[in-house]
Amino acid sequence: MKYLPLFFGLAGRTVVVVGQGAAAERRAMLAQSAGALVRRLEAAASGDLGGVAAAFVATGDFEHDRLAVDIIRQACVPVNVVDCPDLSDFIVPAIIDRDEVVVAVSTGGASPTFATILRGRIEALLPERIGALARLAASFRAQVNGLIADPGARRAFWRRLIEGPAGRLALTGDASGARRLVIGDLHAVRQAERPIGGAYIVGAGPGDPDLLTLRAARLLQDADVILHDDLVPPAILGRARRDAERISVGKRKGQAGWAQKDIEAEMIRRVRAGETVVRLKAGDPFVFGRGGEEVEALRAAGLPVSVVPGITAALGVAASVGIPLTHRRLASAVTFVSGHSAAGAHAADWPTLAARGHTVAVYMGATEAASVRDRLLGAGTSPSMPVAIVENGTRPDERVSVGRLSDLARLAVSHTSRGDAGPSLIIVGEVAAFAASEEQLLEQVS
Ligand SMILES: C[S@@+](CC[C@H](N)C(=O)[O-])C[C@H]1O[C@@H](n2cnc3c(N)ncnc32)[C@H](O)[C@@H]1O
Repeated sequence: MKYLPLFFGLAGRTVVVVGQGAAAERRAMLAQSAGALVRRLEAAASGDLGGVAAAFVATGDFEHDRLAVDIIRQACVPVNVVDCPDLSDFIVPAIIDRDEVVVAVSTGGASPTFATILRGRIEALLPERIGALARLAASFRAQVNGLIADPGARRAFWRRLIEGPAGRLALTGDASGARRLVIGDLHAVRQAERPIGGAYIVGAGPGDPDLLTLRAARLLQDADVILHDDLVPPAILGRARRDAERISVGKRKGQAGWAQKDIEAEMIRRVRAGETVVRLKAGDPFVFGRGGEEVEALRAAGLPVSVVPGITAALGVAASVGIPLTHRRLASAVTFVSGHSAAGAHAADWPTLAARGHTVAVYMGATEAASVRDRLLGAGTSPSMPVAIVENGTRPDERVSVGRLSDLARLAVSHTSRGDAGPSLIIVGEVAAFAASEEQLLEQVS
C-alpha cells in the first residue's frame, strides 16, 4: 500500500489553499465541506502558516508549486499539490459523500480517472439514503451498548438493524418507521422475544431481469421467503438468494391459485414469525396488481410494510418494441385500462379513450380483444387505427403483431390460442404503428 487511507478531522481548523484557478477553488470547497476555515493565498509565505492543519497548492505552474511546497514543508504543514503526487505529502481520493457515510477511492495517484470510474461503480451499488441508515444506527448506539453486554449478541443486533427490516425502511426514506422497528427490536431484546420481520411488496418489472430496480434486486437477496405471481419468470426468481423459500401464489387464467385473503394471511403469519417477506409481483404492484389490498392488510395487522415500484408492463413493452406512448404530434395522453372493463366488469370512459391523440394500453385484454375492438369502434375510434399486441414483452420470447383496430380480434388469436401463451398487452393509437411486427422484421432481413 503506497498511501495509508485516513480520514482527517478539519472542522474548525485552518486550511491554506495556494493558487487562484478552478482546481484551487475545488480544493477550497472540499475543505469547507469538511468544516475547515479556508485561507486563500496567491503565494505561500511562512508568516501565513502558523497553526495551519493542511495546505493545498494549485498555482497551475510547476516551479511556483515547488516553491510553495518548500515553504509549507518548512512550517511542518502536510501539503497536497493538485495533480502532482510526487510533490505531495498526501493525495485526495475520489469521494462518495452520503452524509455520515463517506467512501474514498484511490489508485495511489496512478490514475485519477480510474479512481473516478471506480467511484461511479461503487456509487451505483450504494443505496441513496445510506447516510440516513448510519444516522439511525448512531442514534441508538448508546442504548444498544447499554442494553446488550455480550459483544457477539451486540454485533448480531447491529447487523440485523443495518441489514434487516429497520435498515431497509431507513433506506426507503421512512425514518420514523425504521425507528419504531428498532425500538420494537430493543423491546424484544429486553423481553428475550423474537423480533418481528418485515413485508416488501415488490414490482418485478415486465420480465427482463435487468429491468428490476436496484432496490428490488437487493430485497431478493435479503428475503427469507418470496411469495411470487405466476407471471414472474424463472430468470427473475434466479436473482434471489439461493436459500430463500419460493412460493408461487399466482393464478393463471382459468386455474385456481391462492385466494387473496390467504396470501395476505400468509404474509402476516410470516412477518410475525420474524421473516423478511418479499411479495413479488409482475410489473408494478400498484398497477392492476392488488398491491393496495396487501398494504392495507399488513397495516391493519400493525406490521411494517413497504412498496417497491416496478416497471409496469405498458412502459416495458412500449420501450422494448419502440412505441412512444406519447408523441409530440400523435399522442398527448395515455391510459392504462384493464381488458375486464371491455368485458363489462368495470366501467371505463370509452369516448375519452377513443378521442384522437390518446394512446390506450390494455392489460389483460388479449382474450377480450373482440370486446375491446367493439367498445372503441362504438365510441368512435377509426377502424383503421393502428394496434399492436405484444406477448412476453421484454423477454427472450417476445412476439409482436401489428395491424388495424378492425382486425384486432384476429390478431389476438395467435397470442391466446397456444397452450403456452404468455402475457399480452394491447396498444391502440397512432403510435402503435411504430412497432415493427415479426413479419416486417423478417422482411427487413431477407
Ligand atoms: C394482472 S396484470 C398485472 C400487471 C402488472 N402489475 C404490471 O404493472 O405490469 C397482468 C397483465 O399485465 C400484462 N403484462 C404483464 N407482463 C407482461 C409482459 N411481459 N408482456 C406483455 N404484457 C404483460 C398483461 O396484459 C397481463 O395480462
